[in-house]
Amino acid sequence: MSNKLNIGLLGLGTVGSGVPFILNSHKEKIQQVTGMEIQVTKALVRDESEKERQAKRFDIALTTDYNEIINDEEIHVVVELIGKIEPAKTYISQALEAGKHVVTANKDLLAQYGAELASLAQKNHVDLYFEAAVAGGIPILRTIANSLAADNIQKVLGIVNGTTNYMLTKMVAESKSYEEALKEAQELGFAESDPTNDVDGIDAAYKMVILSNFAFGMNVNLKDVETQGIREITTDDVEMAKKLGYELKLIGSSEKIGESIAVQVAPMLVPLTHPLHSVKNEMNAVFINSSGVGESMYYGPGAGAKPTATSVVSDLITIAKNIRLGTTGYRFNSYNYETKLANDNEVYGKYYFAFDVPDKKGQLLLLTKIFSSTDISFEQVIQQKTDGTTARMVVTTHAMTKAQMKAVTEKIQEVPEFHLLNTFKVLED
Ligand code: NAP
Ligand code: HSE
Repeated sequence: MSNKLNIGLLGLGTVGSGVPFILNSHKEKIQQVTGMEIQVTKALVRDESEKERQAKRFDIALTTDYNEIINDEEIHVVVELIGKIEPAKTYISQALEAGKHVVTANKDLLAQYGAELASLAQKNHVDLYFEAAVAGGIPILRTIANSLAADNIQKVLGIVNGTTNYMLTKMVAESKSYEEALKEAQELGFAESDPTNDVDGIDAAYKMVILSNFAFGMNVNLKDVETQGIREITTDDVEMAKKLGYELKLIGSSEKIGESIAVQVAPMLVPLTHPLHSVKNEMNAVFINSSGVGESMYYGPGAGAKPTATSVVSDLITIAKNIRLGTTGYRFNSYNYETKLANDNEVYGKYYFAFDVPDKKGQLLLLTKIFSSTDISFEQVIQQKTDGTTARMVVTTHAMTKAQMKAVTEKIQEVPEFHLLNTFKVLED
């Protein structure tokens, strides 16, 4: 191969536009570390006239026909940045089968078809890299695959969705409503074009599937990630959490329990002393607990054109180096372990429960009886008057199993006068 690495870019949107920008801005450094000139030669777009100015600036030929990329023998790497499942999946599969290396930031696709695509890449002796798919600009996948390869990871906690972290920060710090905060996140460009996946925790679940694969070598199905978004959080929950010494954040959690793992995405109460508490606005962070390093946290921007494109270009640099060394065709993550999911009796946690109960004698006693009959004890209790006939009762508990949490929830729901408003997990310090 010559000293040129030619890229066929699919999509010139937010991240797609950032890739030629980064390649151009850091051209000399990239050439020095790879010994190659990496350039986008052709880009697939839907409307050529719309992207003409950009294409001219970076000397990129535009096409609306994917065949012009897949059949171009001068193109060595396909960078997929159109997003979603189809036609991205077909385009990537065809590129791998045609012997082209692939880089993508598509977490939706990797969380659902990552194993299949990684096998296809290996079968065709080409590379498939996707650093930008998790936490945008934070080099977390390469850190787990390379720098922590010698370590034994026990737990991964992540704030991996910028939109919801931004919204919750604004709801907590500026008492903004859910609707106001979402509108701002959309205007600032953090949210997906349809923000459903952001607010319902699905985007974070995609990222936790990929992180679990890197941290524990397991292929977790999306349906096995218990996923809860932020729609049900009320300003009362935000205030109550504050009173109890916590802040509500959407947390992705992947935890090893014996030989199994439990993966979850949900709003959780984060203690003010936990490092994840300092992660505000659209920033992302991944907190890792491992036996060698101990606690470590990786922090940075999880979205945006330049941070995400920088991760995409880091993948291109890795491919260029692999080509030079003759080491292409190895998996991004070669750690592979039998996938086993923990059952509800093995997964422990503290919980927050918020109820409306009748404002009359004996309600706290009744609640205490229900919890103690399930062998659960309270850690903190707050009772607050609401409208004169009802009282808001909020409790946090000591650690219990998920099975106990489900059992007590059922018992509470059997009491017609008790209205269970929300249950959230409480992170340990
Ligand atoms: P985007 O701004 O919507 O850009 C996607 C581009 O792809 C648009 O220009 C779109 O064209 C084009 N496109 C879509 N389907 C196409 C097709 N069939 N043929 C040709 N072009 C097509 O999205 P993005 O934010 O750059 O995201 C790209 C990928 O990166 C996604 O997988 C996303 O999840 C991932 N990602 C994004 C971020 C971020 O900060 N934005 C961070 C991490 C990962 P039109 O303009 O005509 O619609
Ligand atoms: N919508 C995503 C977020 C973009 O808010 O984190 C980055 O994946």
